[in-house]
Amino acid sequence: GAVVEHTFNIGNLTVSRLCNEEVITTVNGSLPGPTIYVEEGDTLVVHANNNSPYNITLHWHGIFQILTAWADGPESVTQCPIRPGGKYTYRFNITGQEGTLWWHSHSSFLRATVYGALIIRPRRGNSHPFPSVYQEVPILLGEWWNGNVVDVENNAIETGIGPNLSDAYTINGLPGDTYNCSQNQTYQLQVKHGETYLLRIINAALNAQHFFKIANHTFTVVAIDASYTQPYNTDVIILAPGQTVDAIITTNQTLGSYYMAFTPYHSAPGVSINNNITRGVVIYENATSASPVMPDLPAQTDTPTAHKFYTNITGLAGGPHWVPVPLNVDQHMLITFGIGLDHCPELDPEGCGGRNFRLSASMNNESFVLPKGLSMMEAFFRNVSGVYTRDFPDNPPFVFNYTDPTLETNGTDIAFAPKSTKVKPLTFNSTVQVVLQNTAILARENHPIHLHSFNFHVLAQGFGNYDSNVDESKFNLDNPQIRNTISVPVGGWAVIRFQANNPGIWLVHCHLETHLPWGLAMAFEVENGPEPWVLPPPPADLPQC
Ligand code: C2O
Repeated sequence: GAVVEHTFNIGNLTVSRLCNEEVITTVNGSLPGPTIYVEEGDTLVVHANNNSPYNITLHWHGIFQILTAWADGPESVTQCPIRPGGKYTYRFNITGQEGTLWWHSHSSFLRATVYGALIIRPRRGNSHPFPSVYQEVPILLGEWWNGNVVDVENNAIETGIGPNLSDAYTINGLPGDTYNCSQNQTYQLQVKHGETYLLRIINAALNAQHFFKIANHTFTVVAIDASYTQPYNTDVIILAPGQTVDAIITTNQTLGSYYMAFTPYHSAPGVSINNNITRGVVIYENATSASPVMPDLPAQTDTPTAHKFYTNITGLAGGPHWVPVPLNVDQHMLITFGIGLDHCPELDPEGCGGRNFRLSASMNNESFVLPKGLSMMEAFFRNVSGVYTRDFPDNPPFVFNYTDPTLETNGTDIAFAPKSTKVKPLTFNSTVQVVLQNTAILARENHPIHLHSFNFHVLAQGFGNYDSNVDESKFNLDNPQIRNTISVPVGGWAVIRFQANNPGIWLVHCHLETHLPWGLAMAFEVENGPEPWVLPPPPADLPQC
């Protein structure tokens, strides 16, 4: 493969959005940041120069990082942040995967503006497992706040409640014509009649899943999370934060213009959300009609439509980079997760807005805290103790009716989880099966759980409490979908399986950005294997704390 080299200058940019001027942090002065194109087998080298006033890191969402864990990027996990004025070069090979991924900041809420597409094409001489298309189009769904996003997060941390709701969603950085002052900031896709277009759709929003449609056009989904799927025809796509969908459209409509529109999927019953429909427009060459056709979007609470899309897709067994399901499981885990509370006594009373609690979140009743000082992976590499412990539990500490809706109001006695930095050690190459079980404590909600470094097979998903006696019979071991981020059904569960074939410390977390600082995370510590399967020493320029 070739070496593809980029310089990312991270710095301030003044933009106007929604009738205001804002100073935001971006890469190379654009929002979204640059799209990176590579071919499978290439080495990507990104020189990151931090000219912003914030500590920052970059993460390559979905990239395996085989023996390059030092380039993964989550702050305090695989590296200390790049300080203002500092730099770090991310260098890694991209093999065994192709399709649409993305990169984003992995420090605080900065990923609201520090993100971009990372597109992996087949290596020269290889082709996609679908007919070639006329054009490829990255579509990044984003989220926008009036005001500084770091302040938004800090304010949320200080008050102990959720952050301010965002002020808009965006397509390729543009809010579009449903927002004030945004008529001229509407994303336009110019198309020719009678062609095929591969839309590479990325949900880069911080806190919302989205239903996505284009009026009068249907999609053929050919990949999700950079894993090929059996072609799947649908008129609506749903993506959780972190997920991607590659979908082909055919421009077979009369010459005109058609809205591409999206609206949040709101899984938590009874919780309101601010932004409604956001849209761009698909315009046919030589179109005469002026007003675009609008698609009918699902209701924001349409869980059946979301569930259908999330569960009907199957993997392209035998296709490029297909990995069969490993059949012998070495490590079984059941991980429950959800929203909880912290007591506030030791905090400044102002710190919790006068209440005696603040919101938090946990996995298996452990609320994850990022270490200060040494990153977890330096502690792993140098065998330094005291940074984290190796006792993340294989199962929740107590069994209850996890999805009982009354836990939303009566679950406060089990909502308090201790703070810890615990990992689950895994033997190199072991096969791990995890039942991801949502809980209803304080909030029933669909949580998109992302695993760093590994793709996993999604064996089954369902509602209620997972019951191995019944649900194991539902496992798809032949052609399950392969993902890096699984949207675990509201009041339900998903079973994933992966092979721990890459040494390092790998974060697992909810990709709703609000939930990460609350502690909805854990990490796997994958041990070194036999040579050459050993974590190499850190690069000389790895940022120090
Ligand atoms: Cu897309 Cu840990 O992140």
